[in-house]
Amino acid sequence: MPITQTREITAAARLQNVRYAIRDLACYSDEVARQGHKILPLNIGDPNVFDFSTPPHMIEAVYRAMRDNKNGYAPSSGIKEALEAIRSEAARKGISSVQDVFVTTGVSETVDLCLNALLDPGDDLLTPSPDYPLYSAILARLGLKLNTYDLNEEDGWQPELADIKRKITPRTRGIVLINPNNPTGSVCTRKMLEDVAELAREHNLVIFADEIYDKLILDDDECVSMAAVAPDVPVVTFGGLSKNYLAPGWRIGWGILSGDAAAVKSYNEGIQKLLRARLCANHPEQYAIKAALEGPQDHLVEVRTKLRSRRDVTVKWANSTARVSCVSPRGAFYAFPKIDIPEPDDVFVRELILQKHVMVVHGSGFGQKPGTRHFRIVFLPNEATLSKAYTAIGELLAERYH
Ligand SMILES: Cc1ncc(COP(=O)(O)O)c(C=O)c1O
Repeated sequence: MPITQTREITAAARLQNVRYAIRDLACYSDEVARQGHKILPLNIGDPNVFDFSTPPHMIEAVYRAMRDNKNGYAPSSGIKEALEAIRSEAARKGISSVQDVFVTTGVSETVDLCLNALLDPGDDLLTPSPDYPLYSAILARLGLKLNTYDLNEEDGWQPELADIKRKITPRTRGIVLINPNNPTGSVCTRKMLEDVAELAREHNLVIFADEIYDKLILDDDECVSMAAVAPDVPVVTFGGLSKNYLAPGWRIGWGILSGDAAAVKSYNEGIQKLLRARLCANHPEQYAIKAALEGPQDHLVEVRTKLRSRRDVTVKWANSTARVSCVSPRGAFYAFPKIDIPEPDDVFVRELILQKHVMVVHGSGFGQKPGTRHFRIVFLPNEATLSKAYTAIGELLAERYH
């Protein structure tokens, strides 16, 4: 038999636009770590890497489910008791027009399914800039062009309504609103939600309300759910165990589809089809959903207290350091300071890893207004660790741009 010559197997061309700066950067930091340096990770929003741990009653519920041999496949939409608990949670959030709920392998899968079920070639979806990069990565995978709207730094990172209006095209099918926001930590005002809902009504858009951080409000803002202010509008509300309930490794998320029943019927059938095609979400972990949503919530008090203090350390440092300024985050655990530097922010971030062994993510990895530079900090570590990191960042800024 002649040996055929091996030819290169190339990845699909559409993957060229799939980027996920938060983890892509980790490859670079791994190289630096291999040279014997310990890298301080302020790049990934994983509370369990720091002094936060999953509430014990949730662990008990999963352990019990495993012992009870709930280790087979689950129903495609999720187990009954979890779905009931999510419906009750929707009611607590003020969502009155629920049409369906479903459990997924993290919010990441909810987003993937919901975008896949909606978008045809040539359609577009409005996503915020800066953005949590999952959305743009999925759109790239679907071969769709990005259509981003600005969050306005001068207005506490609220969505820029005029920009949303400008960007709506005849092919726009939906809009993503992340509230509380990653990467800026902003919390939307009720008025803003009402204004976005009005645009959705006018242009027949689905709103994807990513509310995965809705219990991590750091000040006295009310966290209003988009679907509660717009019961008639098609909304998919995303939630999960990764952030509020400190279990990101369990990969449990959910979607709550609400709006006018007739309007969302066909779209829901599409979602259900995709849910069936991937069998089910992790089974035993679904038993933690009811335990989480209906069990003790004490951990949240402690989490918010820690985060508030760490946010304050972060903002105080940023606003007293040359070349840095920062809108104070009001929710979640991210800050997105602006840096006044004469080179691209990804160059700065790589130098920071190389020279100071601190890893943050460059603003260009999330999208930002042309000419501006930022980086995203995860302020989950304790105050002492954060202070050490901020001293290092301040030193690099002073050394590099005196
Ligand atoms: C805004 C936002 N949505 C979704 C996700 C993904 O969450 P999950 O762990 O449930 O997939 C994240 C994770 O950081 C996030 O920040």
